[in-house]
Amino acid sequence: MATQELLEREAELAAITRALDAATAGDEGHSVLVEGPAGIGKSALLRAAATLARARGVSAVTVAGLELERDVPFGLGTRLAQELLDDLDGGDRDAVLQGPAGLVAPLLRPGDPGRPPVDRDLGVGQGLRALVAERARRTPLTLLLDDLQWVDGPSLRAVVGLAASVPRGLVVVGAIRAGDPGAPEDLLDRLRAGTGTTLLRPDPLTQDGTARLLARELGSVDPAFAEACGRASGGNPLLVEEVAASLRAQGAPADAAAAFALRERALEGVRRTVAVRLHRLPVAGQDVARAVAVLGDGASPEVVAALAERDRREVEDAADALAAADVLLPGAPLRFRHALVADAVRATIPDLARARLHARAAQLLARDGAPVDRVAAQLVHASPGAWDGAGAALADAGRNAIVAGDPPAGRRMLERALDEPLEERDRWRVQIGLVLARTDEGIPGEEDLDETLRDIRDGELVAEGCHALALRAYLQGAYGEVVRACERGLAAAPDDSPHAEPLRDLRYAARSFSPAHAQDAAQERAVRVASWRERGERGSVAARGLLASTLAAIAAPPTEILALTDGIADQLEDADPMVSMFSTSFSAIALLWSDELDAVEALVDAAFAQARRLGSLTAFTTAAQARVILRLRQGRFAEAIAESRLPRELGGAGWVLYRDWSAGRVAQAHVRRGEYAEARAALAEADPGERMERGFLEEAIGDLALAEDRPQDAYAAYLTAGRMLERWNVHHPGAVLWRPQAALAAHRLGRAQEARERAAEAVAIARANGARHAVGRALRVLGAVTGDPAPLEEAVAVLRDSPSLWERAGGLADLGAAQRRVGRIALARPTLREAIALAETCGAAPLVAQAAGELAAAGGRRSRARELDGLAALTPSERRIAARAAAGRSNPEIAAELFLTTKTVEWHLANAYRKLGISSRRALRREWFADVPSADGDEVARPRAPSRPRRGRGPAGTA
Ligand SMILES: Nc1ncnc2c1ncn2[C@@H]1O[C@H](COP(=O)(O)OP(=O)(O)OP(=O)(O)O)[C@@H](O)[C@H]1O
Ligand SMILES: [Mg+2]
Repeated sequence: MATQELLEREAELAAITRALDAATAGDEGHSVLVEGPAGIGKSALLRAAATLARARGVSAVTVAGLELERDVPFGLGTRLAQELLDDLDGGDRDAVLQGPAGLVAPLLRPGDPGRPPVDRDLGVGQGLRALVAERARRTPLTLLLDDLQWVDGPSLRAVVGLAASVPRGLVVVGAIRAGDPGAPEDLLDRLRAGTGTTLLRPDPLTQDGTARLLARELGSVDPAFAEACGRASGGNPLLVEEVAASLRAQGAPADAAAAFALRERALEGVRRTVAVRLHRLPVAGQDVARAVAVLGDGASPEVVAALAERDRREVEDAADALAAADVLLPGAPLRFRHALVADAVRATIPDLARARLHARAAQLLARDGAPVDRVAAQLVHASPGAWDGAGAALADAGRNAIVAGDPPAGRRMLERALDEPLEERDRWRVQIGLVLARTDEGIPGEEDLDETLRDIRDGELVAEGCHALALRAYLQGAYGEVVRACERGLAAAPDDSPHAEPLRDLRYAARSFSPAHAQDAAQERAVRVASWRERGERGSVAARGLLASTLAAIAAPPTEILALTDGIADQLEDADPMVSMFSTSFSAIALLWSDELDAVEALVDAAFAQARRLGSLTAFTTAAQARVILRLRQGRFAEAIAESRLPRELGGAGWVLYRDWSAGRVAQAHVRRGEYAEARAALAEADPGERMERGFLEEAIGDLALAEDRPQDAYAAYLTAGRMLERWNVHHPGAVLWRPQAALAAHRLGRAQEARERAAEAVAIARANGARHAVGRALRVLGAVTGDPAPLEEAVAVLRDSPSLWERAGGLADLGAAQRRVGRIALARPTLREAIALAETCGAAPLVAQAAGELAAAGGRRSRARELDGLAALTPSERRIAARAAAGRSNPEIAAELFLTTKTVEWHLANAYRKLGISSRRALRREWFADVPSADGDEVARPRAPSRPRRGRGPAGTA
């Protein structure tokens, strides 16, 4: 049946072939949607597509929506993820899961008892899309998605996302049964509307096609019979086959007499013929068929046996008999030959009996330890009051569906739960769930919350509801709302509530972001520190992260920030998703301001690992966000831009927090690369209004203006940045370098006096804190506005130890230019060459051009970057690791010595190799020891260049 050639489907198969050819040729991916009534041959086309794909060496993965899985969040997604990963061997699998695809992790741990994080839906959906894209990137892939009308909401949303822009190398072929009541039409419409989606609507078979199909099924057929059959079936292949099956079952000849009978019968369709076939079977067979119909395709034989009240042997015998009668497919797992057959079998069960069977199925599944979502999927079809556990199970499943991103499904289950006798606590859980089900449409206002929570005496429940609301509000940047929800939750939460600490952290974060509450935040900070000291504790990781960022905001020195954030990376694993999100982002911010980029690197790695473990998109994006800034500061601009994709995409989807933070950083990366149009486009994405994020955005606006020689605009932007930051109590000189930049803009405007004063002030403030990049920049500007080379020499010395590579390159360029101007040509040339080499490593075209211009003026020629300055281009971490590798240590040894993972060591080494243009350890040794006679101090080996004395880390060594 399945492998037979399809009749009259040439046009459809040609369209599918075109899509496959495009995918194998490496063009953009395509999607094809097959739509039509039951039995028209959609699944058959999908099977044919799989065969066509495999014949081209394209792998094909098929998954189908299941009617009973409709309300099970990520029912289809789970099966899809498993199929895709099963296809990969161990190493590839691990590699794929390292990226965003790793966000599917929660799906791979069936029955995970942990409460899913509030944003798991988004993370998992994003993970699924990434997983499919990554698989298709490796080798062309065809995804066959059958019965989309039954796919659960969260999985279908991921499919819609895929179809909206199909990744390269992928073909998606989907099938929708038309006219299914309860199909998620809005999502299906978005699928149909996908650009580049080909819609196929297979026609019924012609008279000739019908005759050929009958002949295939029954051998020779009487032409009069074929014609009657064609009219009766309307050319629907399934109906034609059903007629043939029932004739075969009766052993009757396919002649004119049969055609007459058919006219009476076939119009009633499959139901009737299936019922007839079923009744011919022994009672055990009927019971088993009904049990499978109730439980759904793929049900475990044990549960089927229990529901049918038969033993295993009887179930197996019955399954064989059902396969022989064309009801089930042969073998395990137990599946119907066709969904319509399942439907027909269900229709033979009287209504009340069916409801009873569903109730009993729910109990059996619950006893079997099935996830509550599956239990609830049965209960929805059972009569109220059939089972004691029904209310609680529906309440649980409903709330799961909401946090898993399917509020409509959640709402259905919660409303159904209200029909059950509920204990008071469960009733309130349902009520809160119903409020949360609305959060998709926006944050419920205080009154909604008030009204729902007013009469609840269970503080833990109130805390839980408020926690979810507060997080939603936080992601939407509604900080006032966050503070209100947190206070309400905290007022209600019992002392030992697991929600209390996250609520406090959220409130603290939101307060820190809103000027109206800044005073409270400062007060709370003092109270917290005092209480830890009293108890001799260091505080939770989240609290420490928050504290680090607020201390950084008042310009605490780098050493203090390092001490406070030390060890957070190692403790993320045990933290809850929100906690890890906060501790990552706040610690990262504090460390970035402090120019401690190596510590950020370790933190961000740990944060990604944690986000994948949890499947939390918020945590993942937060880590990505931190890495955007990290790469920007490291001078790895192309990577910063690439990394910003996810935060920007989410920004477009309404997560304004991410949008506004990324836009400025991406714009800065473009400015440094000389891509001003791209920078402008990135800035246009942001819309921070008068929120704190604007302070950071204005720095980028100023940088672009200065690069485009609009000093007046730049000046205004830097001052706005400063004003905004002050208003939000951000006083760290390394947060936004607006002070030195404002001095520079004033200088360009010819306001020499003001420029000098501002620059001197910037130097003093930066020195007081000690963040190297900030001190370096201030000194650079001071040198530029005074024409004095001394500050520039000092800037270069400070930046020599800074991981901010572009800043270092800029310092060298400034110094080289100054040296040339005062006639010290012999000094200027090597300085400028080093500047050029570093700037090239960063891809900073304007800086390369500027330094090259100076070098030409100094009569020097440019040399190949790596010949001269390869080793100098290494970051401190790369240098530390390369030194040890050159000295003969293995990667695991280096990892152990430096408290890093082997992966991190490999990564740094690979970068060092790339910068040095080498590919082996032996070459590294040659490069490294070329003229370094001996090791010194704690360094294992010292590079050939730069051979300058080492300095202390902070400004102490430079003051
Ligand atoms: N063009 C065809 N030529 C021959 N046989 C066909 C053709 N189309 C469908 N069939 C057969 O008809 C039966 C029903 O087709 P299929 O299961 O693909 O329908 P469907 O559109 O997927 O229906 P549903 O909406 O119920 O899933 C199958 O046994 C299939 O092999
Ligand atoms: Mg089908």
